[in-house]
Amino acid sequence: METLVKKILDLQESTNRMNSVIESLDTGLMMVDYHGYIKLVNRAFGSMFDLPVEQMVGEHYDVYLSAYNLRPLLNECMESNIPVRLEIPLFYPQERIIEASLTPIEENSQQFGIVAIFRDLTAFRRLEELRRDFVANVSHELKTPLTSIVGFTETLLDGARKDPDTCKEFLQIIYKEGLRLQRLVSDLLDLSKIESKQVSIKMEVVSVQLVVHDVVETLIEQMQAKNLRLLTDVAPLMVKMDTDCVRQILVNLLANAMNYTPVGGKVTVKVKQDDRHWMLQVMDTGIGIPERDQPRIFERFYRVDKARSRNSGGTGLGLAIVKHLVELHHGEIEVESTVGKGSIFTVRFPLEYSDT
Ligand SMILES: Nc1ncnc2c1ncn2[C@@H]1O[C@H](COP(=O)(O)OP(=O)(O)OP(=O)(O)O)[C@@H](O)[C@H]1O
Ligand SMILES: [Mg+2]
Repeated sequence: METLVKKILDLQESTNRMNSVIESLDTGLMMVDYHGYIKLVNRAFGSMFDLPVEQMVGEHYDVYLSAYNLRPLLNECMESNIPVRLEIPLFYPQERIIEASLTPIEENSQQFGIVAIFRDLTAFRRLEELRRDFVANVSHELKTPLTSIVGFTETLLDGARKDPDTCKEFLQIIYKEGLRLQRLVSDLLDLSKIESKQVSIKMEVVSVQLVVHDVVETLIEQMQAKNLRLLTDVAPLMVKMDTDCVRQILVNLLANAMNYTPVGGKVTVKVKQDDRHWMLQVMDTGIGIPERDQPRIFERFYRVDKARSRNSGGTGLGLAIVKHLVELHHGEIEVESTVGKGSIFTVRFPLEYSDT
């Protein structure tokens, strides 16, 4: 008698253990019997398809699965008695891609029912898509200057070189496009280094005023040539930072402010601090960024106005690099902008940088 009780208790314990494993999976799981009645279904399945799993056990799958393409899939597997696999796009409650694998199971060599496993492939597919887009974008960006270099060189070789003026003009174009290619490739290399975390951060205590001053110095001539006023309002702070990293962030933000602000405008660099952060702001009175583009300008190659940016030599990688550098520094960046009025880029760095 005692051993029987023990066996039942053991059995119960292992069933409980099995149940908690099934419930803790992030893979959706459902089991139906030969007649289509649901024998088992876990929480992950419920949240994937927004279904009340508590009520489903004992019901026929027809009752609950009519809204998805799951029903025909189950029918097919029932009838054919062979495994079925399919990717199902879902639009509700969220847009997602679910991989369904259905396998018929047997008990005592009799068809018992089906085990269905559902995996969320959304993140995986999105990554693939990003990679494809990236390769397409890079190829496109490289193609434009290359086409122009090859074209002008051909024309020169065909005889245009004999006219000194034409020759000089074409060589200048080739040179300009060559520089563009060089910038593109060096930006891409920077980006890939930062992304693969190959750059190490070297934190040192420095005067922000000095860093800002250095950067401004290198750009002042270009600013004056465009008749832009450059103002600085920098608190005398000593903060811990990676100087190269902050310098590059500021150079990119200032280059944008300069490029996207018409002649006669004003660019301001401001540095201030609150109790936990120090803030770097670059403000301009330029063309501004439409609200719908604002969330996207930090993406690689994204430009509001492709033609304009390309004419100014832009690759569309500047802000993507800035964003990565800011994150490497455990900071955050945000933009406020009004079309026709100007933009404010704010970078917030923690005063206490920790490696973890
Ligand atoms: N201060 C700004 N004012 C208006 N638009 C801006 C400003 N900064 C960025 N943008 C918009 O965001 C886009 C992306 O900026 P980003 O710096 O990444 O690329 P880019 O300036 O076009 O090229 P790159 O910086 O690589 O030379 C720009 O093309 C521009 O449309
Ligand atoms: Mg830029």
